[in-house]
Amino acid sequence: MTHLLHIDSSPRSDRSHTRRLTAEFVQRWRDTHPGGTVTYRDIGRNPLPHVTESWIAAAFTPPKHRNESMQLALRLSDELVDEFLQADLIVAGIPFYNFGMPSGFKAYVDQIVRVGRTFAFDPANRVSPYTPLVHGKRMIAVISRGDGGYGPGGRNQHHNHLDSHLATVLQFIGVNQLEIVAAENDEYGGTDLLNSLESARRTLRGFALEETSQSKEAVGSNEAR
Ligand SMILES: Cc1cc2nc3c(=O)[nH]c(=O)nc-3n(C[C@H](O)[C@H](O)[C@H](O)COP(=O)(O)O)c2cc1C
Repeated sequence: MTHLLHIDSSPRSDRSHTRRLTAEFVQRWRDTHPGGTVTYRDIGRNPLPHVTESWIAAAFTPPKHRNESMQLALRLSDELVDEFLQADLIVAGIPFYNFGMPSGFKAYVDQIVRVGRTFAFDPANRVSPYTPLVHGKRMIAVISRGDGGYGPGGRNQHHNHLDSHLATVLQFIGVNQLEIVAAENDEYGGTDLLNSLESARRTLRGFALEETSQSKEAVGSNEAR
């Protein structure tokens, strides 16, 4: 049985393209994976807290030395890590804000990148101190951007700090299968937006039809290279 974690991070509701695209993907995935299960986490409407000094102190204290208040400080983070680790596939709707990920999604990243849980750290090993602890997961990042040309070879590619940031942080914890599906031109509307949305839909339809275990070891893109 495969398990899908569905995350939305747009603060917008009906006007959000990422919300609509992830919802359509999940509906199709359910149809093609009748035994599959889905967990939904809406961090756009229910924003996560940023990490705090007590969170950091607790996270870097070995579990057996954590007191009650430290355990409390990490409770939500532990829940989010458990949820992430239970998924075979993660589909995440991520709006493109100020050339990167929105702060709401970054708060999620900071909550799930956890020493001893999603990566290991060995200060004695100066050559390779970090070891990813996550295995066998695939993430489909569904992104929407206001302008266009942020994809490979596009006029704004050099301003796209979201795709590479996402790939780096996911690889750091061991998620090496990242698919980027992006729609563009929200700010212009018209056929440019419609064509971009249709291209993203087509790619997502293909992913929904795939067996979740047949993942590709690649950072993919629906955009022209
Ligand atoms: C705070 C904010 C910052 C944004 N920054 C950018 C940007 O740097 N580049 C861009 O192309 N679009 C930018 N946009 C436009 C969004 O990427 C676009 O509206 C996208 O469709 C949002 O995703 P959603 O439709 O799921 O809400 C920004 C929008 C907001 C609200």
